Amino acid sequence: METILLEKKDRLALVTINRPKALNALNDQVFSELESCFREVAADEEVAAVVVTGSGEKAFVAGADIKELATLEPLAARRLAERGQRVFNLIENCPKPVIAAVNGFALGGGCELAMACHMRVASEKARFGLPEVGLGLIPGYAGTQRLPRLVGKGIAMELVLTGEMISAARAHEIGLVNHVVAPEALHEKAHAIAAAIQSKGPLAVRHAMEAVNRGFEMSREDGERFEAALFGLLAGTEDTKEGLAAFIEKRKPEFKGR
Ligand code: HXC
Repeated sequence: METILLEKKDRLALVTINRPKALNALNDQVFSELESCFREVAADEEVAAVVVTGSGEKAFVAGADIKELATLEPLAARRLAERGQRVFNLIENCPKPVIAAVNGFALGGGCELAMACHMRVASEKARFGLPEVGLGLIPGYAGTQRLPRLVGKGIAMELVLTGEMISAARAHEIGLVNHVVAPEALHEKAHAIAAAIQSKGPLAVRHAMEAVNRGFEMSREDGERFEAALFGLLAGTEDTKEGLAAFIEKRKPEFKGR
């Protein structure tokens, strides 16, 4: 892989979008490599959590590659959007928690990538926005769908229609990011969240993510039914028995992922 760096350490996969000269803009190659990278980490039993970040000082990802967009005819543009949506759905449905460590500009497709991750931690230097309308476009990697679900319809509408860039502090205020930290503390914070999750029952973590993700797209009634079904499924696992026994015996649980 050339445009994605994948490093694995202590059960954590660090995925870095690596086109710093183009502020990590997402082109065809980035999407292909991002897709294989997520297929790999999803299947790797040694990986318990994933952090996604951008290479260099300046950008997380400054959007879709505008030079590539400029050559597109309508059908190709539609296919490009659908393909990006598919890859971002793969990230959202990754069975391991995915944390975006937003180190700089997260614009257009970059903001959409951060939103496809399960959680977002931002450096004080990060900037967020969906500037597509200024290019005569609209967000095409599900930004119009994920942003209102994360921050509410009114604020999402303002950001999508004005294309305004917002600070990390404002992104935190509206609920777009979970935490804002000093640039040098960004990875430490993302890793601390990953480590807290890694110490928990892996099957429980996976089912909890499924319950939140799938439940978000269902009626309340169906979501509760789905939650109860997963709760029942877990009750038959060794991990659940171990977690409950460890509490009663006043010791740390040793989860095995089964
Ligand atoms: C291609 C990009 C790029 C992008 C930056 N670059 N963003 N190349 N696509 N999205 C390139 C620049 O052309 C330049 O290359 C180099 O990166 C450095 O960028 P500068 O503009 O010189 O940096 P600076 O002046 O600091 O401005 C930073 C910036 C600006 C504010 C982030 O680069 C910017 O506005 N970028 C575009 C952001 C954007 O509109 N994103 C949305 C894209 S549309 P050279 O070769 O000149 O050094 C989108 C649609 C998604 O994402 C949905 C599709 C279906």
